[in-house]
Amino acid sequence: MDDLARPPRLVPPTTAVRESFLAGERDDHLASGDPADWLDDAHRDFEAFVASRRGVQERWGVPCTTFWYVSGEHYIGTLILRHRLTPELAEVGGHIGYHVVLPWRRQGHATRMLAAGLAESRRLGLDRVLLTCAAGNEPSLRVILANGGVHDGRARGEDRFWIDLTAVHATHSA
Ligand SMILES: CC(C)(COP(=O)(O)OP(=O)(O)OC[C@H]1O[C@@H](n2cnc3c(N)ncnc32)[C@H](O)[C@@H]1OP(=O)(O)O)[C@@H](O)C(=O)NCCC(=O)NCCS
Repeated sequence: MDDLARPPRLVPPTTAVRESFLAGERDDHLASGDPADWLDDAHRDFEAFVASRRGVQERWGVPCTTFWYVSGEHYIGTLILRHRLTPELAEVGGHIGYHVVLPWRRQGHATRMLAAGLAESRRLGLDRVLLTCAAGNEPSLRVILANGGVHDGRARGEDRFWIDLTAVHATHSA
């Protein structure tokens, strides 16, 4: 089957998408101006880079799982699931962070990727998840609202949203 005909899925980081991951993340970082030193490691030894991101990693002081959203050999984006919150994350950061690389934006991928991330959250045993999004980040706001986000105030310039996973079960199975 043509790769592009395959519905994208959330999977653990995989060497199968090497070329599109490196190209997509490089272009994204060039466009945003964010530092991309970590990509040098990925270029040098992609296998080791992928291995270091699989499984549960301790980041932000909590256990985290990294997922890549892929269709065949095409890398579309990343979703990070933090298994619990610290007081800091409970204010800003939340349980889930994500991005979609530029060529794949505005095609509904982030909306569907978050829905799949909510299914993973539920599998982990979470009843609700917190997401935070910079005020004015219209695309991300829409992604969160489309997945049932309920606004719960603003902290340090970020809007906070809870998504009830017991309600999500009926409407957003992924
Ligand atoms: C936010 C982000 C993940 C959205 O990815 P995406 O795949 O383009 O999102 P979708 O295609 O699912 O679009 C979601 C909604 O935002 C809208 N949208 C997307 N890009 C937009 C833009 N640049 N301006 C205005 N609206 C936009 C879409 O039309 C869609 O609206 P709808 O549901 O009313 O039709 C992506 O822009 C991104 O990676 N940004 C940088 C990282 C980031 O902000 N991450 C989120 C941190 S909270």
